[in-house]
Amino acid sequence: MDVNTAIIYYSATGTVHALAQAAAEGAEKAGAQVRLRTVAELAPPEAIDARPEWARHRRDTADIAEAGLDDLAWADVVLFGTPTRFGNVAAQLKAFLDSTGPLWLRGGLADKVYSAFTASNTAHGGQESTLLALGNVFHHWGGIIVPPGYTDPIQFRSGNPYGTSHVAGDGPPGEVALEAARYQARRAVDIAAALKAGRAA
Ligand SMILES: Cc1cc2nc3c(=O)[nH]c(=O)nc-3n(C[C@H](O)[C@H](O)[C@H](O)COP(=O)(O)O)c2cc1C
Repeated sequence: MDVNTAIIYYSATGTVHALAQAAAEGAEKAGAQVRLRTVAELAPPEAIDARPEWARHRRDTADIAEAGLDDLAWADVVLFGTPTRFGNVAAQLKAFLDSTGPLWLRGGLADKVYSAFTASNTAHGGQESTLLALGNVFHHWGGIIVPPGYTDPIQFRSGNPYGTSHVAGDGPPGEVALEAARYQARRAVDIAAALKAGRAA
C-alpha cells in the first residue's frame, strides 16, 4: 500500500536539510512515495549574503521545490524539520504552518501521521522545546503524532525520543543522526501504512 510522505523543512545552512534528506531516504526505503519540500525564505538578501554558508546553501538547494497546501493534502505522513530559533520553530516554517488555515478548516490535516526533527547550535539549546512547539500544531490539526521514542537501538545512541536532533555546533550531522532520521521516517511510514490498511479493511 502506497504511503504518501511529505518531508517539509527549513534550513539556512544545511544541517536540517541533511536530516531531511536522510528522512527522505528512510521513507523511500520503507516503500513510501516521497516529496521533499522546503519552505519560502523570508530573510532579506542582505542578511543571507552576510553569511556565506547561508548564501551557499541556498544556491546549492535552489532546485528543491517549495511546499504547498497540495503537498499536505496529498500526504499520509508529514515530517517537519526546523532549526531551533530561540528554542522555537523557525519563522520560515511557521509562516508555512500559518498558511494552512483553509485546509485545516476543511478537516484536511486531521488523521495524518506527523513527526518532527530539528537542529540547534548547542547541546541544550532548545531542541526539545522546538519539537514540542511543533507538536502544538499537530494537536490542533487532530494529527497522529509518531515520535521515535526509544523504539530502536539507534535512539539510545542519538538520544532524543521527541525527534531526531543534531547539535550543529559539533559539525554536520554524522551517521548516528542521519540513521536516526532515516529510522524516524521509516517508523512514521510503517505506522501510517498500518493505519491505512486498517482503514481500508
Ligand atoms: C535567530 C536565531 C536563533 C537561534 N536560536 C538558537 C537557540 O535557541 N539555541 C541554539 O542552540 N541555537 C540557536 N540558533 C542556531 C541554529 O539553531 C543553528 O544554526 C541551526 O540549527 C543550524 O541549522 P541549519 O544549518 O539547518 O540552518 C539560532 C540561530 C538563529 C539565526
